[in-house]
Amino acid sequence: MWPLHRKPYTLLLTIVVLIIPLTFGTITPSDKKAKQKDPAGSPSFKKGPIAENVVERGLVTKSPSPFDIIYESSAYCKKTSERNVTRPVLGYVTPWNNHGYDVAKTFSNKFTMISPVWLQVKRKPAGTYYMAGTHDIDHEWVREVRKRGKRSGVKIVPRVLFDGWTSDDFYALFTSGTEPKELTKTLVTSLKAYKFDGVTLEVWSQLGGQARKALQMLVKLLGEALNKAGLTFILVIPPPLTNQGKPGMIEHEDLKAMYSSVDYFSIMTYDYSSPERPGANSPIKWIQKCIETLTPAKSDREKFLIGLNFYGYQYTSTGGHPIFGNEYLETLSKAKTIEWSEDVEEHFFEVKDKDGKRTIFYPTLMSIRRRIKLAEELGCGLAIWELGQGLDYFYDLL
Ligand SMILES: *[C@@H]1O[C@H](CO)[C@@H](O)[C@H](O)[C@H]1NC(C)=O
Repeated sequence: MWPLHRKPYTLLLTIVVLIIPLTFGTITPSDKKAKQKDPAGSPSFKKGPIAENVVERGLVTKSPSPFDIIYESSAYCKKTSERNVTRPVLGYVTPWNNHGYDVAKTFSNKFTMISPVWLQVKRKPAGTYYMAGTHDIDHEWVREVRKRGKRSGVKIVPRVLFDGWTSDDFYALFTSGTEPKELTKTLVTSLKAYKFDGVTLEVWSQLGGQARKALQMLVKLLGEALNKAGLTFILVIPPPLTNQGKPGMIEHEDLKAMYSSVDYFSIMTYDYSSPERPGANSPIKWIQKCIETLTPAKSDREKFLIGLNFYGYQYTSTGGHPIFGNEYLETLSKAKTIEWSEDVEEHFFEVKDKDGKRTIFYPTLMSIRRRIKLAEELGCGLAIWELGQGLDYFYDLL
């Protein structure tokens, strides 16, 4: 909208820079009320659904203005049932960012799988198992997502965590003759009882890269039982490379051993940086290296879902924390410009006010578009963490 990024407009830039803090940064008593009603924190912005998508609106660019992002990001295209990605797309939904429930309903046909984060499998000392978190299951919402997502045939595959497990619990499971069967039975019976289409299992990282052979055996056993029961099996796995380029908690050999037992691998290609080492959330070259490390052959990547973060990170001189859509927009309203790093293919910006200096990395249409393209080139699908943390116009790209 405002050509903030173009050099010939230095004068205009100066004016705009002066105006933005006035229009966004300061809240006069009269727009305080409007702000309270409007969680995005901007006094006025475009709302969806609208006729044109983000590409037609010219918004997928390396140099968006903060104003454009704030003004346009709630306006998504009304063609919510048309997919622009051919490969599978999984979307995580968490109860603690409940905007994701609405996103999953509105864009249900953009997803082939929705994974609500509700369940935990627990072990009792006696070696029996039960499913916890079932009170979080929202049956009405599941029905609605399925009904609206007929075109993509969206599957509901809840995430199941091995919550509160000690290493002794794992040891007992791995060495007992009967416990793996008990665990399998608990899992399959619960999924069937609540009429889910499958499961997204998160267990691999929990042992810090130890006991991989035992984990492989467990995955194979579970895979066989889930397959027999007609349930989809998604395994969450960590990236095979750290941010130092060192081997991570999984490698090609692990993948090879489990590939035929699993329907999809949801790969956590994010959290590359941290407050100890601030920077990009997920450098694109690192994503590519991770995928190629897991499997060199493109034909063996059909089951891969590249993890896309729809959250960002805010860093200060003393630490940092994840940042979601609303807080991002609010902070962005204090920024003059947003910068593109060609090396990592992510946008970032800095603000400095009474709270100190902060650097924020958060996905943009451009960074997401580039990652979708990479996934297509590598022959992979996508897994988004998570739908409640992003901006509504992101979904035009899927
Ligand atoms: C859909 O995909 C095509 C091909 O990759 C691309 O050119 C186009 O910009 C995409 N449209 C949207 C809305 O992302």
